[in-house]
Amino acid sequence: MQIFDEYDIMKTLFMIRVENLTKKFNGFTAVDNISFFVNKGEIFGFLGPNGAGKTTTIKMLATLLKPTKGEAKICGFDVLKEKENVRKSIGIVFQEPALDNRLTGFENLDFHARLYGLDKETRKKRIEEVLNLVELQDKAKILVINYSGGMQRRLEIARGLMHYPKVLFLDEPTLGLDPQTRHRIWDYILQLNQKEKITIILTTHYMEEADYLCQRVGIIDFGKIVALDTPQNLKNILGGDVISIEVFPPERAFEIFKTFSWVKKINRCNSIINLNVEQGEKKIPLLMKIDQKEAGFEIKSVNLRKPTLEDVFLYFTGKTIRDGEASQEEKNKMTMRGRFRR
Ligand SMILES: Nc1ncnc2c1ncn2[C@@H]1O[C@H](COP(=O)(O)OP(=O)(O)OP(=O)(O)O)[C@@H](O)[C@H]1O
Ligand SMILES: [Mg+2]
Repeated sequence: MQIFDEYDIMKTLFMIRVENLTKKFNGFTAVDNISFFVNKGEIFGFLGPNGAGKTTTIKMLATLLKPTKGEAKICGFDVLKEKENVRKSIGIVFQEPALDNRLTGFENLDFHARLYGLDKETRKKRIEEVLNLVELQDKAKILVINYSGGMQRRLEIARGLMHYPKVLFLDEPTLGLDPQTRHRIWDYILQLNQKEKITIILTTHYMEEADYLCQRVGIIDFGKIVALDTPQNLKNILGGDVISIEVFPPERAFEIFKTFSWVKKINRCNSIINLNVEQGEKKIPLLMKIDQKEAGFEIKSVNLRKPTLEDVFLYFTGKTIRDGEASQEEKNKMTMRGRFRR
């Protein structure tokens, strides 16, 4: 992708700039020639199913994994040639929990701050600040083993902020948390983006998370960015409305629906058929006029809604994010089988 050539002067303004980044593990391409940039102060999200290449991308940007090909700069520093400067500029919250359970919240933060060489005064002040930000000030003296899952995640976010990073990487910040805790964490993320003026790049496979938090979203599938824009613009690509019809048998109905001239795009997930249409409210009566007996199918339910990021994902990849997760697992298994055969 040659998107940067015209914007040479702007290159230095981006907090993150990635060009043709690729990572191969043996013969398997986990990240496939991706290019994108992240603006200063932006919350940028990577949305994709399990195995799409999100963590691999974050690890390359955080200098933890060497790219096979391509280039990436964080705050103007090259991830290959200026690792130290990159590391000083970033905070990272890993997908896998990485706290010391036998230390208190305070001790975890203090240990991290010492690694970054913060002096005693600064450490004390900063620990107080970040604990306040994630509302854990009352839990500072408690062993992390006694924290709930949500509290641990908040402490990890606080730790990622200790050394005043300019860019924060959040790899699946709310994975496995209940909806209420997830919403609280979203609020902390928005707050720290605004209060600390920090640029955030996060990965998620939750559509609502990307929609709620991110100014721009890159949809990633099988290591490739298949679409990148604001959530609203992505949804606008689909335009109009989505009519979801539960139908039996779906195969027969699919063949008939796809012949309608007013259907812009059609997808099927099991017994649900999604139609992208303009002015959905005017199209539902047309569906109801179908003589179902004669057509050989039965409509069980009809739902009219605006497109979501789930629909956008379906539009660009031809599958739901959950189907994507299943097929990626299958692909991984086949790659492993291939490796064993060699
Ligand atoms: N060290 C490695 N060696 C071999 N393959 C790897 C390695 N790390 C990642 N992969 C493979 O690369 C692909 C992308 O993995 P990655 O962890 O980046 O996905 P992800 O999008 O973060 O998925 P998830 O949502 O499950 O966290 C997967 O197929 C994974 O099995
Ligand atoms: Mg991951």
